[in-house]
Amino acid sequence: MNMRDIIIAKRDKQSLTDEQIRFFISGVTDGSIPDYQISALLMAIVLNGMDEREMTTLTLEMAQSGKQMDLSYLEGIPVDKHSTGGVGDKITPVLLPLIATFGVETVKLSGRGLGFTGGTVDKFESIQGFNIEVDSKDFPELVKKTGMVISGQTPDLAPADKILYSLRDVTGTVDSIPLIASSIMSKKIAGGAKAIVLDVTCGSGAFMKDYAMAKELAEAMIRIGNLAGRRTVAVITDMDQPLGRFCGNILEMQEVLNTVTGKGEEDVIEVVTELAFHLITLAGKDAGMSSEVLREEIRQRLSDGSCFEKYKELITSQGGVLNASGSPVYVDTPFDCMHVNSPDAGYVQSVRADLIGQASVLLGAGRLSKTDPIDYGAGIGFFVKTGDRVERGDSLCALYQGAKSDLPEERLFDAMDLILEAYEIGPDKPSKKPAILGVIS
Ligand code: URA
Repeated sequence: MNMRDIIIAKRDKQSLTDEQIRFFISGVTDGSIPDYQISALLMAIVLNGMDEREMTTLTLEMAQSGKQMDLSYLEGIPVDKHSTGGVGDKITPVLLPLIATFGVETVKLSGRGLGFTGGTVDKFESIQGFNIEVDSKDFPELVKKTGMVISGQTPDLAPADKILYSLRDVTGTVDSIPLIASSIMSKKIAGGAKAIVLDVTCGSGAFMKDYAMAKELAEAMIRIGNLAGRRTVAVITDMDQPLGRFCGNILEMQEVLNTVTGKGEEDVIEVVTELAFHLITLAGKDAGMSSEVLREEIRQRLSDGSCFEKYKELITSQGGVLNASGSPVYVDTPFDCMHVNSPDAGYVQSVRADLIGQASVLLGAGRLSKTDPIDYGAGIGFFVKTGDRVERGDSLCALYQGAKSDLPEERLFDAMDLILEAYEIGPDKPSKKPAILGVIS
């Protein structure tokens, strides 16, 4: 068997055999296949796709390319959640303590920001003292103590995905349902979960720009999950505009605090509630409640202080510092350095999340290249979102920088230009789009 024949087979629209896929992933992992041949096959997959069997084999081979986590020390059914990425997506820091109040235990492995999308690891790092690089041998003790642990991905989890992902990023081969589905599901399967809830984002700030594409990705991941023996549910959520009121690391963690103390934005609460509902149900911790009662109970725990108590446990168990009132202490202080004003009167028709994400990266909230430092205080706060009325000159949003920032002025103006492009103002009030677009199981 050789790589040239495998590339030719996919170029000619053939299904790859399980042996060919195994040969490919083992060569990616041990470094014996050069980057140019890996990239050629990736491009052939982007162009000609993969069938269900190929996708499943690819996923399982990637999952087995490194260490498989053994979560048998958890008392219940190990569950996991994954989002396909977005702007202002602060769901995980709310969701873990929320489901922990129902006795659902989680070992959550998260990533850093990617492109214009934010990353949960960077968000937790904005809390003073918080250790996000937890040694996997400490996971059982932490879960036992609080019911949850959150950590950056360990390097030995699905290493083939890491190699493929970094090549995909620079060869125009990210946007492919078989490649995205196998990348995500390989990490979830290697992570040891028996039940998986996927937040498949859809819209301008997501990989999947429309509902049909999001549904196709969701169905592909569900098929892979089920074939691999994992009960999998996908919730398709709106990412046509940023989620919540803020994007940026400290700003989003401040919004998390609002949400766990019952003062969250409705779109964040809707997404958190739906994901929590499926995680609790799959973990068998719904205590026989009807779906209506369980959803009510989930919302109740955000407002009655129980989620806040668990959130504080999560922060302190991983070294994070709380002040006297129980709020996390952050590594910097965001300050509001400029407002972007509306050029017209009318209704906000849309707030393109991709452009907002890019503006936020320009402000320093994300990285333009892999090794760039982050300004944890940088980001954007939205005064108005889709459907809101504005008059000419009203503030659309505020740009933030950290107190320690030394951002060049032109970056601030470039960010402002992107924001003006992101906001579309028109005469008619647009109809309201729900935060949850669909559930597939
Ligand atoms: N997230 C991943 O982990 N992989 C992809 O390919 C896309 C999003």
